[in-house]
Amino acid sequence: MVRVDRERSGVGRMLVRDLEDRVRAMGIHTMFVGSDDELGLTSLAGVDLYPDVIGHLARLQNLRGHPIGFYRRLGYSVIGVMPDANGFGQHDIYLARRLVPQHDRRVMARASCRHAPDNWLTGPQVHLPSGS
Ligand SMILES: CC(C)(COP(=O)(O)OP(=O)(O)OC[C@H]1O[C@@H](n2cnc3c(N)ncnc32)[C@H](O)[C@@H]1OP(=O)(O)O)[C@@H](O)C(=O)NCCC(=O)NCCS
Repeated sequence: MVRVDRERSGVGRMLVRDLEDRVRAMGIHTMFVGSDDELGLTSLAGVDLYPDVIGHLARLQNLRGHPIGFYRRLGYSVIGVMPDANGFGQHDIYLARRLVPQHDRRVMARASCRHAPDNWLTGPQVHLPSGS
């Protein structure tokens, strides 16, 4: 969280980019972000999303400076919503950004199958097969 009097001065971007560099170096291929909307900053706030949850998400609008605007500026895409995650009408919005090129299957495979589940918090080494 960035101190209010330092918002919009590049601190948030620097923090997220640094975190992305660290997890990419660990062999992790995608960053996922969950963001609540308890202050009612988006068009989803207070709305009963059922039964057309995906329709509501497709019409999502950032009404009053919700951080989804920040993450979108950094290349993140909205990928989903968990209805009522924090109480009725208080949903969690999910975003993601791929950190490696789609064709780099070696890193993706290592990250998802071997290293990430066991020790992603402590900094795994990614060992790529030689000659592949
Ligand atoms: C959201 C937050 C992390 C952004 O950090 P920041 O240092 O203010 O953001 P930056 O200055 O690095 O902004 C990077 C870009 O995103 C834009 N941006 C920042 N906050 C934005 C917002 N709320 N809505 C839309 N765009 C935003 C900036 O204008 C800038 O755009 P540019 O590429 O045209 O220069 C910070 O404002 C914050 O901590 N807010 C309060 C707590 C919070 O909402 N946390 C997130 C919970 S998920």
